[in-house]
Amino acid sequence: MTRADWEKSYARTESALGQAKIEAAPDLPRLEEVRVRFTGRKGELTELLKSLKDLSIEDRRELGPKAQGLKASFDAAVAARKTALEDQGDAVSLSDDAIDLTLPSLRAPRGRLHPLTTTLHEIARIFQLMGYSWAEGPHVEDERHNFTALNIPEDHPARDSHDTFYLRDLPLLLRTHTSTVQIRTMESQRPPLRVVCPGRVFRHEQLDATHSAVFLQVEGLVVDEGVGLADLKGHLQTFLQKLLGAATKTRFRPSYFPFTEPSTEVDVKCFFCPGTGCPSCKRTGWIEILGAGVVNPAVLKSVGYDERKWSGFAFGIGVERVAMLLHGVRDLRDFYTNDIRFLKQFDESLL
Ligand code: PHE
Repeated sequence: MTRADWEKSYARTESALGQAKIEAAPDLPRLEEVRVRFTGRKGELTELLKSLKDLSIEDRRELGPKAQGLKASFDAAVAARKTALEDQGDAVSLSDDAIDLTLPSLRAPRGRLHPLTTTLHEIARIFQLMGYSWAEGPHVEDERHNFTALNIPEDHPARDSHDTFYLRDLPLLLRTHTSTVQIRTMESQRPPLRVVCPGRVFRHEQLDATHSAVFLQVEGLVVDEGVGLADLKGHLQTFLQKLLGAATKTRFRPSYFPFTEPSTEVDVKCFFCPGTGCPSCKRTGWIEILGAGVVNPAVLKSVGYDERKWSGFAFGIGVERVAMLLHGVRDLRDFYTNDIRFLKQFDESLL
């Protein structure tokens, strides 16, 4: 190739480049077409650069940089247009799938504690403030812990009133009250002691608005020197006022439990009526909330405590009763059917 030929093809390429209007390429594929046309393997600029080798060394020295300059400005124009087109594309796709980051998100459903659990925790918390510790015992028990050590000997009519579930072929039963944990605690610890024992208990009862075959109790036991009925009344009154409000009215009725002497049942003024009587308080104006009494010396003796030195009091609180009062629930079965609409009403902040 002569120098004149080369200069002709240079001029042709240069003017073709001018007409290609790189800065106006409408999109990336079209820009790529142009790039391949000029600087691809068989591109016009590529060929021009290759054909430099046919020129004399002097011509090459002179024309080489010229051709390189042309290629450099082409490459720069292509790169600039490419960036511009890409930026445009980003802007379009951003506005196409725009997300409003300020919109509040949908709240994922959250579980919460069951109202019976929060009630049980609240009861335990108050007693903890009053210096009680926490003890637990097994659901499956022997007759000694459920009855005999609690001064309910075999053939004692009190056993009948408990409607006990016995295990088939075994001398075992499902505990009918948490008083079993009184015995277990005294067997494993020396006095003085002050414990609450929360847990599930079982009785063969017909289910209705106020009875369930499985329910929760919180047992309490205090053993010390010189402890008596006045302490019992003071502790329980303090507890009920902390739980239900300072204005809570309480009533201590004489009662009977084999393991306490004297025994009492404690009522609070009905929450559902102004004391005039309604179905919730069985028309009495009062709701029974716990059983209690001074520990029978026979019970202290059965666990090997010196009943001349030590005395105490005990109580058993029905957790469902308390939860019904606290939340205005009239049917105990609502706690067990676990209808999500019912459960959702209870405040998450109690967690
Ligand atoms: N264990 C009794 C019951 O379940 C309640 C109770 C506990 C009574 C402690 C007195 C003392 O009925």
